[in-house]
Amino acid sequence: MSRLEKNIPTDDPLMNAEKRAVIDRILADNAGKDGAVMVALNELQSEIGYISEPMEVYVAKKLKAPVSAVHGVTTFYSFFTNRPRGKHTLKFCLGTACYVGGTPQLIEKAKQLLGIDVGQTTPDGNVTLEVCRCVGACSQAPVMVLDDEVEGRVRANTFPELLAAVNK
Ligand code: FES
Repeated sequence: MSRLEKNIPTDDPLMNAEKRAVIDRILADNAGKDGAVMVALNELQSEIGYISEPMEVYVAKKLKAPVSAVHGVTTFYSFFTNRPRGKHTLKFCLGTACYVGGTPQLIEKAKQLLGIDVGQTTPDGNVTLEVCRCVGACSQAPVMVLDDEVEGRVRANTFPELLAAVNK
């Protein structure tokens, strides 16, 4: 066991033989290619479901990139998460039109209903609450995105029904 691995939590994907094999395959496939870090991180997010901090360090080591560069990518793009997402993802748009249209109040309502903060997942692993940038549906502000479905003109008194449908 390397020095790096002594400090990795036992539930990290790197400590699971099956997931480790997937991670190693993705890194081996991309090593030395242009844009390797971005492509590998995309594949890891899709196949593993998230990029943990130890995974960032591992990616940097294997692709010979600075850890800061890897971390910079995972924190800049909202597609990446450092924890597993829930079965469903509920995002509220914080673009200007939606913000002015009342997204902050909707987020507060969602936090109350789900009992979690933005960036967290309900304890049963069902719903992750996130915010996002403009999704291009400004004319329908305020907008929320439930999994891949964009819901426009969301109102505080109607969206709990949409939420209840997935949060059973
Ligand atoms: S600002 Fe929300 S969709 Fe554009």
